[in-house]
Amino acid sequence: MPDNAKLKQALDAAARYGQEHLFKFHDELDSAGQEALVEQVMSVDFAQIETLHRDLVRNHSASAARESIEPLRARAWEDFSLSERAALANQGMRILREGKVAAFLVAGGQGTRLGHNGPKGVFDIGLPSRKSLFQLQAERILRLSRQAGKTIPWYIMTSRENHAETTGFFKERRFFGLSERDIFFFKQGEMPVVDADGKILLASKGRLSMGPNGNGGCFLALAKSGALEDMKRRGIEHVFFYSVDNALVRVCDPRFVGFAAQMGMPAASKAVVKVQPEEKVGVLCLRNGKPSVIEYSEMTEEMIYSKTADGRYLYDSANIAMHIFTRAFLESHAGASLPFHLAHKKIAYTSPSGETVTPTLPNAYKFELFMFDLFPMAGAMAGLLVSREEEFAPVKNKDGVDSPASARNLLLELHHKWAVAAGVSEEELRGKLVEISPLASYAGEGINTALIRSQLGNPIIHVS
Ligand code: UD1
Repeated sequence: MPDNAKLKQALDAAARYGQEHLFKFHDELDSAGQEALVEQVMSVDFAQIETLHRDLVRNHSASAARESIEPLRARAWEDFSLSERAALANQGMRILREGKVAAFLVAGGQGTRLGHNGPKGVFDIGLPSRKSLFQLQAERILRLSRQAGKTIPWYIMTSRENHAETTGFFKERRFFGLSERDIFFFKQGEMPVVDADGKILLASKGRLSMGPNGNGGCFLALAKSGALEDMKRRGIEHVFFYSVDNALVRVCDPRFVGFAAQMGMPAASKAVVKVQPEEKVGVLCLRNGKPSVIEYSEMTEEMIYSKTADGRYLYDSANIAMHIFTRAFLESHAGASLPFHLAHKKIAYTSPSGETVTPTLPNAYKFELFMFDLFPMAGAMAGLLVSREEEFAPVKNKDGVDSPASARNLLLELHHKWAVAAGVSEEELRGKLVEISPLASYAGEGINTALIRSQLGNPIIHVS
């Protein structure tokens, strides 16, 4: 099609939905810029944006108000007998040994709350080893695959903004000892960012403001990128999904793999008991009778503070973003349409007079998909309640609660406990920091006490 015809088509499409302002600076752009703008406009589904703006921004039709929500309690790991636990862990290890498990990391987020510009996974939380979140995860995968004697392929979803930096970080660090062939990076999709009136913002004179389409964009990206096909080729049957920002994440935990397989459902999810009702976590629930998660931002006061007869909070099973889906389920549902959620953010934009405006208050709306919105389609889901101290050290905020400092302390406290459980006394460890490399122990097993004792003269004990 000649360029003019294409331009007219794009202009008409935008104008039909009141978005002709996107062309305000078209004539100031060079021809490559003009072409890129037209391409970008043509890729936007304006009808979808109009509907989302009407439903979510104008009519505030947050779904929770219209749906029936009930709590869903996960089964506590502690409630299994010792022999049942051993059987589940063995079953998981057997599946790992058969090479049927993959790790899938959603790492397309922007880490704005952390005040860190760039991929969250490169973040150093201040451990004595200075390991990044990515390195901790990579080494857990490496350790587990050595234990299983089988490769665990790692699928990593990035976004346009952080893809190059993420892949560059891995390359520079030689993939942390993993084989490059077994790591598959791919980008998630994007959605336009709008203002309160539903107008798409301009990021610059020639570019629409776009943001990653939420971690629920992972399913479509999985299919489109060829990652799902790659999993099939490798004989993967169970896919462990997780978030980048938990310093204690047990990637592909054999116990969880065994539990998910034993329950025989298309989806399984780990949870921990909420630390306090206001904690900023989603909780497992039944939505219209189907397994789901309700996000903290969408919970009513009544849901947050309701208690059971025995004094527990009714909605206390926190989503810690660790799920297992079967590949078969992903194949049949990767293209499913999920609901969008709204995020109100501060986003810099180009004003009609052509200046860059950096707002001090939220000015923009993003439409995001959530990973856990796939749960209801599984029909049934198995929830496993695990120990918070062992598995959840979120890195969300710059300081205080859920910060790099709190995550670092949680990890060091856990490693201290591992050393004590292995036979080193509290007395010997007084005043010392213990950091155990994931390469030496995945979950507290096989701790070398002689190595710890040989370092008792140092303030920092490092087991690698
Ligand atoms: C998330 C969960 C919340 C849970 C909490 C536990 C969602 C929507 N909420 O909250 O229920 O209790 O973790 O820590 O999942 N990401 C992308 N692409 C995006 C946006 C995010 O890949 O477009 C990734 C991030 O890189 C991160 C993960 O998703 O790895 C979760 O981040 P975020 O969306 O910020 O959710 P939280 O508020 O942390």
